[in-house]
Amino acid sequence: MRSQALSFLGLSALVLSTPAADSPKPVAAENKAPEVKITAPLEKTGFQWNSLLTYSIDVADPEDGKSEFSEITANEAFLWVAYLPDAAQTEKYLDVVAKIDNAPVRKMSASNCFTCHTAATKLIGPSFDLIARRYEHTPDAVESLAKKVLGGASGTWGAVPMPPHPDLTIEQAKEMVAWILKNNLDPNRSFVVGLEGAFRSREKPQQESSDWTCVLTATYTDHGAKDAPETAVQGAHSVVLKHKK
Ligand code: HEC
Repeated sequence: MRSQALSFLGLSALVLSTPAADSPKPVAAENKAPEVKITAPLEKTGFQWNSLLTYSIDVADPEDGKSEFSEITANEAFLWVAYLPDAAQTEKYLDVVAKIDNAPVRKMSASNCFTCHTAATKLIGPSFDLIARRYEHTPDAVESLAKKVLGGASGTWGAVPMPPHPDLTIEQAKEMVAWILKNNLDPNRSFVVGLEGAFRSREKPQQESSDWTCVLTATYTDHGAKDAPETAVQGAHSVVLKHKK
């Protein structure tokens, strides 16, 4: 016990002693958080099931720039959509979504996945919702689908093939597929990529409630301070919509 504690202390002393006390201290990289705002729809707007909603997100980041001057890369902004049967759950959900780990989604967006896929509707490829449902009970689906993402795929969903992604590693592909399979099974959760666009609200749910709300949360993760991507921070903003008949 004692010797462990000592070696731990020794180690931290070593870490603390670099850089040497007489060398100039490196200037801590500073990065300011992005300001994210959903400009449409507005808070408390009414929504209906299975109908088109248009949205728009404004991003202003001290380092990356402003979306109004086209300085923000559109596919680095996401709109998370959640349907809650009871408005009393809103606060708890806002806590959860603020901490969402969307790193795999950002990687998918940085690759080209969203030119062919969306969460909820078919584009050139099948929706991630359908993929998650199809492989829900397939053992080793992460492994086998990750290999298909790397090597390309055809014949399972139709005539259009998915091109290979030789630029990805198998670990990166597995991280993406695991995220898709885990996060696309809940009909009350969805997401859209881009600073503006439109999406279709979900089908009328089975569960009766006079209190259905839809929470939209926009997130944008900045690029961090120059030469210090590890200082990246996420900005977020939510609006709550009310279901109306
Ligand atoms: C050029 C369009 C295109 C791009 C880009 C693309 N896909 Fe696909 N994807 C498809 C098509 C088309 C299919 C259906 C292929 C089939 O029928 O076997 C598919 C199928 C899939 C499947 C299911 C495979 C199966 O056998 O059921 C997964 C998982 C998937 N894509 C993930 C991704 C990921 C992750 C990315 C980004 C790294 C990506 N796709 C990029 C078009 C694309």
